[in-house]
Amino acid sequence: MSKRILILPGDGIGPEVTGSAIELLSFLQSFFSLDLTFKIEDVGGTAFDKTGYPLPIKTLEEAKKSDAILFGAVGGPQWESLDWDKRPEQALLGLRKELGLFANLRPAFLFNELASASPIKKEIIDNLNILIVRELTGGIYFGEPRGINSSSNPPSAFNTMIYDKNEIERIGRIAFESAMKRNKKLCSVDKANVLEVSKFWREIISNLSKDYPEVELTHQLADNTAMQLVLDPNQFDVIVSSNLFGDILSDIAATLTGSIGMLPSASLNSSSQGMYEPCHGSAPDIAGKNSANPLAMILSLAMAFRYSLNNNQVANIIEESIKNFISKGLRTHDIASDATFLRTDQVAPKLIDIIEEISSAR
Ligand code: IPM
Ligand code: MG
Repeated sequence: MSKRILILPGDGIGPEVTGSAIELLSFLQSFFSLDLTFKIEDVGGTAFDKTGYPLPIKTLEEAKKSDAILFGAVGGPQWESLDWDKRPEQALLGLRKELGLFANLRPAFLFNELASASPIKKEIIDNLNILIVRELTGGIYFGEPRGINSSSNPPSAFNTMIYDKNEIERIGRIAFESAMKRNKKLCSVDKANVLEVSKFWREIISNLSKDYPEVELTHQLADNTAMQLVLDPNQFDVIVSSNLFGDILSDIAATLTGSIGMLPSASLNSSSQGMYEPCHGSAPDIAGKNSANPLAMILSLAMAFRYSLNNNQVANIIEESIKNFISKGLRTHDIASDATFLRTDQVAPKLIDIIEEISSAR
């Protein structure tokens, strides 16, 4: 059956980077005779401006029907003063929750040619390749009760950090299985020295490790992990953590590479339906200037082929074309060391040339 892809360009540089992904996808579709269809819908502030909702019902319905969603970015200064439930970010949280996208995979890897862009010394950062597995639909971001108590004296506010055994086990399994496909090292991150929910998390993950005897499991406290990521990032292979800690640690890990414009992510549910999103945000300052780096979006497309569209061959060729692009010295504005760089809309055509070259050499 034909696979369905939904494209949600969103705000800021979202439309530009998804534009490059669409161009590449159209090429791949005809070049490899892929049986897939794709549609585009509004999301975020752009959707709010048109419909009054950041996640219109039509967008959500199309998302539910699709195998993979390519999500550009949402947010921008013009929507910052809106009520909470109208903010662009609510679209992201809504899609995660409604589709049950509990497993967020955030790779942080370095192309060694780009090491000079990293804020970390080359000898520490070389060959960086970490996978952060963040729980995405539970924990303090969704826990109830939550609220603001304006009438208490003094006024107060509260959230709840809660995980049940099933939620921890399912994200734990994804992490152990990812480690099995990599270097078989898993570090589980928590605050078991302070939080009951973390103590519980640690117990469940430790029990799970009996099913994965080949994986070397360690536990770290989240504040220490923040430090270790900067001091010695190559000690990590796979990191698993709750929603909150994963949010923070994945930003640190992405920053280590110095080129956040290169990092993709995947958010999956239990039926391998997934949403694929670059790690960078909507970057309103450079929106509409044809200068954004679309490679994170395109690497996210590769992840979509790997995890939701069952096509490793296409995933591999996209990734290979990007390695090739970098090693040929081609650069976008954010990773350029001088004034020679490609504009956003020049990137997909180069990748298409490279893919044709690679394929004809085989
Ligand atoms: C992310 C973002 C979101 C999150 C925000 C925009 C709600 O920071 O995807 O990491 O916290 O999950
Ligand atoms: Mg974040």
